[in-house]
Amino acid sequence: MKKILITGGAGYIGSHTAVELINSGFEPIIIDDFSNSQEKVLDRLEEITGKAITCYQGDCADRSLLDQVAKDHQLSGVIHFAAFKAVGESTELPLKYYRNNLVSLIEIMEFMRDHQIQDLVFSSSCTVYGQPDVLPVTEATPRKDAESPYGNTKKVCEDMLVDFVKSKPGIRVISLRYFNPVGAHPSGKIGELPQGKPNNLVPFVTQTAAGIREKLTVFGDDYDTPDGSCVRDFIHVMDLADAHVKALAYLDEKENNFYDVFNVGTGKGDTVLQVIKTFEEVTDVKLNYEIGPRRPGDVVKIWADTQKINEVLGWYPKYSLADSMRDSWNWQKGL
Ligand SMILES: NC(=O)c1ccc[n+]([C@@H]2O[C@H](COP(=O)([O-])OP(=O)(O)OC[C@H]3O[C@@H](n4cnc5c(N)ncnc54)[C@H](O)[C@@H]3O)[C@@H](O)[C@H]2O)c1
Repeated sequence: MKKILITGGAGYIGSHTAVELINSGFEPIIIDDFSNSQEKVLDRLEEITGKAITCYQGDCADRSLLDQVAKDHQLSGVIHFAAFKAVGESTELPLKYYRNNLVSLIEIMEFMRDHQIQDLVFSSSCTVYGQPDVLPVTEATPRKDAESPYGNTKKVCEDMLVDFVKSKPGIRVISLRYFNPVGAHPSGKIGELPQGKPNNLVPFVTQTAAGIREKLTVFGDDYDTPDGSCVRDFIHVMDLADAHVKALAYLDEKENNFYDVFNVGTGKGDTVLQVIKTFEEVTDVKLNYEIGPRRPGDVVKIWADTQKINEVLGWYPKYSLADSMRDSWNWQKGL
């Protein structure tokens, strides 16, 4: 059974990917410092998969910890999720973001180089496209200046990976540019677990529905979109998890140095108000929301062209927005 190191494997996307890896015959080996997740996620992973989960608690930029993992396990590849991701906080504390997101990737690349580990899947983001001029965005759409230090860390990480791949024979890397991950495992046992006030729309929706938040604010309804609210490409986290498994399989077929990027989205844009409406329809819960002013820096509309990932990796999303809302609500109710 191939062992894959997953940094940040107790987090939202990492935990769902751990499930998909196990379902596909891999053994995930997790490193997580629990800076934005909880240890109980590991018990939940064991409940879902029926498998014991190996996790090292600590910083994935700690080289001695990484070396210990390599001593204990023969690793076939790495999926690097660990990063800070709060866009707003990154403008207040940019160095915290540059340190964690860049240094951890540098350590991971040096670790791979020194231990002859060839394959890496990296968590990038559609934030690298900024405010796009043409929609949908393809992987060839030019990257724009980042709107935040967080977004810039993803751009710089992608650039570092390109140089890394050129520098050592056999290194194979895929950057997956995630659009907007939503939903939860259909069991309701794992899901997105924001610490404090959520930064993303759907946890705000579910927390408002649960009465934890009094009101949801929609930032602007006068944009040039079908109903005036912003448009995003909402991708179910289980579909996103599956894309990592497909990316690893694809890397395994490559014989030489390899680097590529893939959009991971549904290929369809939905507005914020459509998300609210879908949530209300699926759950039969009425949401208390108001229309607020536009939020500076918000991308007005973005969705993915997914032709490349469909054709090259053979990956297609299986879940709908309604599935995502049902699973997110199920998870929130469990909390
Ligand atoms: N969720 C999104 O909307 C989104 C969108 C695009 C890209 N991404 C990227 O996907 C990745 C995973 O995102 P997520 O939503 O699962 O976030 P998350 O915060 O839920 O998961 C990240 C995990 O990494 C851990 N971590 C952070 N720094 C660490 C370090 N130095 N060492 C060890 N563990 C560390 C955290 O404790 C957490 O468990 C991130 O790189 C993020 O930037 C997320």
